[in-house]
Amino acid sequence: MANEGKRVYTWELPVRFTHWIIALCIFVFSITGFYIGNPFMYAISSKQYIMGWMRFIHFVTAYVFLMCVIIRIYWGFMGNKYACICAWFPFSGEKLSELFSVLKFYLFLSKKVPYTVGHHALSGLTYLIVYLFFIFEIASGFALYSVNHHGAIWYILGGWLTGAMSLSFIRLYHHLVMYVLLSFTLVHVYFALYSDSREKNGLMISIFTGYKFSSGKESDL
Ligand code: HEM
Ligand code: HEM
Repeated sequence: MANEGKRVYTWELPVRFTHWIIALCIFVFSITGFYIGNPFMYAISSKQYIMGWMRFIHFVTAYVFLMCVIIRIYWGFMGNKYACICAWFPFSGEKLSELFSVLKFYLFLSKKVPYTVGHHALSGLTYLIVYLFFIFEIASGFALYSVNHHGAIWYILGGWLTGAMSLSFIRLYHHLVMYVLLSFTLVHVYFALYSDSREKNGLMISIFTGYKFSSGKESDL
């Protein structure tokens, strides 16, 4: 039995910091983005500058978000084994069988609790997909931005996408992915609470403190 009764330092500061700043960014992006796409408040005086502020906040948040995504990916190579980017690629035979077993647990088809300290195969794969959506939002966002901001940096960050897709589709997909990320957030929080209640390992608290409580049943990663 590994680590029975032990507190295990799982999520290091860069993982927790980027997690919560990214969660905050998604919240701010969704409010300002929804307003940009569908302005639901009307200015009654030119001094109110509502759309200007919404766009400004959206763009400032974009740089914070971009930095967090870069830091988290960097930490995937520099951090502890639980932060390792390798956890997001569960494609070995053993990991694929773990993935199906965990999937059955989350679909309420099995009662076999997936005891793990770090990410299990399904959460690792989910975060890989979530980060691909993040990267798409960055590229499509900067593609929209590059239309009236010319320079190599905007081109590298997303401007190149305008050569591959029409602007109206970039805008549509940029908008639609917001709903994908909001839906993910709902399912994510629900299953984090569900896992915590079944594994009883302090999962919810761990994303604040960094520590998980080992039940002794996990295989360490
Ligand atoms: C708002 C309340 C939220 C809570 C309570 C929460 C809770 C958690 C917990 C407990 C974990 C670690 C365990 C695991 O699932 O492996 C985690 C990880 C993660 N969450 Fe959340 N989360 C929240 C919001 C979000 C949002 C809005 C996003 C992005 C759309 C997000 C994306 C992620 C990612 C990518 C990870 C993996 C962490 C990493 O390895 O960097 N979370 N979350
Ligand atoms: C680095 C990341 C991002 C950048 C650079 C960015 C940039 C932009 C830009 C330039 C626009 C068009 C503004 C205008 O036409 O005045 C826009 C619109 C929008 N953004 Fe983002 N954005 C980013 C991330 C996100 C994320 C993560 C979400 C969702 C959670 C989001 C949701 C939206 C929405 C819904 C719109 C309105 C689209 C429409 O016109 O229907 N953005 N964004």
